[in-house]
Order: sequence, then structure tokens, then C-alpha cells
Amino acid sequence: MPENSSSPSIAEACAILRAGGLLAIPTETVYGLAADARNPDAIAKIFALKQRPKSHPLIVHIADAGQLPDWAVEIPDTAYRLAAAFWPGPLTLILSKHPDVPDAVTGGQATIGLRCPDSPLTQALLRAFGGGLAAPSANRFGRLSPTSAGHVRDEFGEQSPRILDGGECGIGIESTIVDLTSNPPRILREGSIRHAQLQVFLPDIQSGQATTSPRVSGSLDAHYAPRTAMRRRTRAELGAETVRGSVVLALKSLPDGADGIALPDSADEYARGLYSALRQLDARNAAEILIEQTPEGPEWLAVNDRIARALAGAGISP
Ligand code: TXA
Ligand code: MG
Repeated sequence: MPENSSSPSIAEACAILRAGGLLAIPTETVYGLAADARNPDAIAKIFALKQRPKSHPLIVHIADAGQLPDWAVEIPDTAYRLAAAFWPGPLTLILSKHPDVPDAVTGGQATIGLRCPDSPLTQALLRAFGGGLAAPSANRFGRLSPTSAGHVRDEFGEQSPRILDGGECGIGIESTIVDLTSNPPRILREGSIRHAQLQVFLPDIQSGQATTSPRVSGSLDAHYAPRTAMRRRTRAELGAETVRGSVVLALKSLPDGADGIALPDSADEYARGLYSALRQLDARNAAEILIEQTPEGPEWLAVNDRIARALAGAGISP
């Protein structure tokens, strides 16, 4: 393997970031495309490689809650209580941005997204680096988030940055985003940390967007999408339908005669495998992907949200 396609050491990774370069990093949710959050030139490289609109803000990843005051002001106590309960982990807090944070990071907004990822390698990197890492998911705009180093390489090909390889992501879908600057506080993006868990700390927390804000790119209807057209089908429909030319993403087991992948029927395990399964099915170049209807219920909210966006964006170029 050529030298620069292997996983860098923490020292090498730090040197790349200090020099203003890009580095793909593992997290427990999905892989991130990281750059020094204090360096506007480095941030510009993220937007260029992702082909992401410049007004879409990035999440800044920090080593622990002690660094919150470096990035945010007017930090409410609940931010520290949520951090104590859920960090390191898949929760992003939206706070008022510190005036020193480059505008490029926040798309010119007065708020900033902050999160402390739960990955031993990325924790080691953040501690060695000392600062914050701006990192969106390491995929091209509108496409499926990567949950392994191989996915990042497939996504960017020749243009791929070095990848700190932490293996497969344990959670598999992006972090829950909670806006603490709105009153009442609001979940902007569903994730594996659920409404009921947050309600313990924020009794009046609301789910869903107050308005459809394009500033949260994960809130665009079409997002997290494969290139192949996709349709949702009930189990009964999958059984009856001629699935010739199609591949199936089934729940628990593949229907007789169907070609595709079955994911477990627990929401967390389904989430872990979802993007990888969609990537594999997308690579089959089938006429369409038929996705089996998943259960309703609070534990399926985040998964169903990602499926709805994949359905909206599948088969169209962003
Ligand atoms: O799990 C995750 O959050 C992953 C890993 C890499 O940490 N990151 C991720 O980043 O999903 P990205 O950029 O793909 O999605 C972050 C979302 C975007 O929809 C962005 O608009 C929103 O967070 N966001 C970031 N800062 C924000 C802010 N100040 N106000 C509102 N939304 C914000
Ligand atoms: Mg993303």
C-alpha cells in the first residue's frame, strides 16, 4: 500500500491539521472531514472538497466540555449538564458563537454547533492537537455519510485526504442536534440520543423544526441519498411484487427470492448498518432499491428520518 493511503499516526495527523490540511477522522456516528477550526483557509478546503454551499455551518469537535468557553458565549448550565450526561457521545449542542470563531465555520451565523466525539483515536487526536476540529460528515454534499474508512476513500477517490482509520462507526447515523439558543430548546436533527433522554434535562424540549431552515443541511428534504432510485414497500408488497431488476433492503430477513440485504429489526442495530447497506446496494447499479417499511415509534424516529431523506434524494444529482 502506498505510504499516504495508510492510517497516519496521531503525530502525523496533528502535523497535517497544523499545516492547514484536511484529515478524515473516525467518530462513533460517522466519519468526519476535519480541519483546524481556527484556520479559514483550511475550512475553505472542506467546502471545496465536499462541494457544500458556504452558508451551511460546520460542527466543531472538541476534547471535552472544558473547551466550551473557547467556542461559545452565554453558555447555559444545561449545556454543561447535557455534556456531563452525554459527552463524549452523539450529541451536538448549538450555542451562541464566540466572536473569535471564524465566520467560515458557522456560515456567518451567530450560533455554533459543538460536539465531543466518542472515538479513542479522535479523542487522542483532539488532545494532541489542542484546538477544535471543524468536521462535517466525510461525504460529498447530499450523499450518504461514510461509516468506514473505505467509504471515505470511495467517496473522494483520488481526492481523498489521509484517513485516520478507527474501524466501523458504532452508531452509524449522525449526532442528535439540540439548539440551546432557541426558547424552548429544540431538536434540529434526530439521532440516537432521543427526545425522552433529553427531556430529563430540558423538560420543555421540542422535536422537529420550527421552520424548515436550509442552514441545517441535514434538514433539506433530499439528503443522505444513494444515486439509485429508491421506493418504500411494505413486507406484503415485497412478497407480491416482481423484484426483478431491483435490490431489496429488508427488515430482519430477505423475502423469498429477493436479492439484497436484511438489517436487524432493532432500531440501533438497523441504524448502525443503514448507510453501509445503502452504499452496497447503490453499487449494484440496480434499476431501483426497494426499502422495506420500518416500524414507527420513538426509537425509530432517527432511522425513519434518514430513510425519508434518502427516498427524497435518491436517483437525483445534488
Ligand atoms: O455526527 C455528526 O454530527 C457528524 C460527525 C462527523 O460529527 N457530523 C455531521 O456534520 O453530521 P454535518 O456537517 O454533515 O452535519 C452537521 C449539521 C448540518 O446539518 C449543519 O447545518 C448543522 O449541523 N449545524 C452546524 N452548525 C449549526 C448551527 N450553528 N446552527 C444550526 N445547525 C448547525
Ligand atoms: Mg452530513
